[in-house]
Amino acid sequence: MRYIIDCDPGHDDAVAILLAARALTISGVTTVYGNAPVELTTRNALGFLDMAGLDIPVFRGSGTPLQRSRIDANVHGRSGLDGAQLPASSRQPEITSAIDFIAEQASLPGGVSIIATGPLTNLARALSAYSHIESGIASLSVMGGSAGPGNTTPMAEFNACSDPEALDIVLASAIPMYMVGYDITSRTGFTESQIDCLETSGHRVASFIGKVMRFYRARQLAVTGLDIAPQHDACAVLPYLQPSLATYTDYRAAVELAGSLTTGMVVFDRRPGEMQRSRPSPFAGRRPVKLCTALKNSEVINMILSAIIDYP
Ligand code: RIB
Ligand code: CA
Repeated sequence: MRYIIDCDPGHDDAVAILLAARALTISGVTTVYGNAPVELTTRNALGFLDMAGLDIPVFRGSGTPLQRSRIDANVHGRSGLDGAQLPASSRQPEITSAIDFIAEQASLPGGVSIIATGPLTNLARALSAYSHIESGIASLSVMGGSAGPGNTTPMAEFNACSDPEALDIVLASAIPMYMVGYDITSRTGFTESQIDCLETSGHRVASFIGKVMRFYRARQLAVTGLDIAPQHDACAVLPYLQPSLATYTDYRAAVELAGSLTTGMVVFDRRPGEMQRSRPSPFAGRRPVKLCTALKNSEVINMILSAIIDYP
């Protein structure tokens, strides 16, 4: 299976790229606004791939949400990957746009699977522009939403809140889909001592990740109260890497698009079947998504750390 990583690097996006690239065939990285403007997330993707010696093409994607204005993540710094100097890449993004690349890959025999760790604008635009490609997306794994509190509003997580319409288009599609939300990923992160281990490892990539994670953890503590460097996006790689480390439960889902308090909230219908049948939700006709409802946190973090520490 070929994979696309659709991302907004982004500290945790970079770790997700490394984790995925070590084990999966990545046909391309598509970039989107989110943790920083798309010019910077594209620059970060190119620079980090070069640093990791990964010859994976980068396709620049959307600079703005479908309808709304961009919001800031506030925890990744001005560059989107603050904390250490990322050498600029000698490469440029490909001429093909992210949307066209997604369509191309989905049209190939066997199609493509997508790991999405930023706002879902690129995929939503691809599905709208190329209606035939939906069946060519074999599987999708999204970091987004929350089955608990949000990190951007009381009920909305950043990727979902950045482009609620885009995520709802994807949730209304027939694409087989995994989701892992902030309720789970906010508990999965690097401690200060684990960051120390990375930074003092003597390995170039691990040391870089240690430095930027120190910045990221400090910002998280100041902005969200989390005292870890949360690895939100690496959790979206798990279904294709180590599914046994997570528990997934099928729920139908939709995004609140008009709530004065809840816009961007992902609503999962977790009622018992009989209640759903007697009082169907407006999204009862949708296919369920596989929502991560539990994670073996320490095993996941140890797996991520070892993938980084011994990265050549
Ligand atoms: O809410 C967490 C998500 O927002 C992650 O993808 C992180 O990279 C930020 O984009
Ligand atoms: Ca991200």
